[in-house]
Amino acid sequence: MLTLENVTAGYHRLQILHEISLEVNAGEIVSIVGANGAGKTTTLNTIAGLVKPSSGTITFAGQAAAGRRPSDLVREGLVLVPEGRALFGSLTVEENLQMGGWTQDRAATVASLAEVFELFPILYDRRTQVAETFSGGQQQMLAIGRALMARPKLLMLDEPSTGLSPKLTWAVLDAVKRIRDTGVAVLLVEQNASQALAMADRAYVLESGSVVLEGRGPALAQDDRVRSAYLGM
Ligand SMILES: Nc1ncnc2c1ncn2[C@@H]1O[C@H](COP(=O)(O)OP(=O)(O)OP(=O)(O)O)[C@@H](O)[C@H]1O
Ligand SMILES: [Mg+2]
Repeated sequence: MLTLENVTAGYHRLQILHEISLEVNAGEIVSIVGANGAGKTTTLNTIAGLVKPSSGTITFAGQAAAGRRPSDLVREGLVLVPEGRALFGSLTVEENLQMGGWTQDRAATVASLAEVFELFPILYDRRTQVAETFSGGQQQMLAIGRALMARPKLLMLDEPSTGLSPKLTWAVLDAVKRIRDTGVAVLLVEQNASQALAMADRAYVLESGSVVLEGRGPALAQDDRVRSAYLGM
């Protein structure tokens, strides 16, 4: 579904990512964990076309993706839920969802809306509420719902649990598993390493812009280096 080979990227002359290689297969949740500033957001933004790689290759759904326009990648099913959610605050829940479906025709939009409301019933109950008055957890559900409206093949989530209580974090991450179970591949970035590793089919540990460890998610959670560096054990 998605392959990065030796991708190097950064901002202006500052190199942040150093020859990153990773892959996400259909039906998988793949987590990227790492400390603040490790380059997690830069990795997702590079895949999404928002940051241009200076070398390496990115392949999505069998096609070269590096250097392509973000909007074209969304059309092909590569959809990012950005850090901080980036909702349209003055628009209602339903309007935000409609905006997310800009790549789709009317029939697909109607079908996706029903699916999103089934996944997150709160969005249906509050469909006329203005997004900025939502709580943090509701906003995260709306941001994920809006991304689903574009019918992603690969959904990328940048720290969806930020600012959420443990209970809401659980609810959001449980929804992510259900999304995976519908056949969508998921690339999840989290600082909340224990949950992100426990739920991941596979995971990568990023340190200073390099992949330093990779493996099956639950197995990585048991790795002594991961436990001491990221799980506080
Ligand atoms: N627009 C930018 N211009 C210049 N440097 C940037 C920019 N965005 C990020 N950086 C730098 O790139 C490095 C990696 O940042 P990035 O946001 O990718 O890390 P992160 O792993 O997502 O961190 P966090 O957990 O805090 O979200 C940091 O040193 C950061 O200061
Ligand atoms: Mg980040």
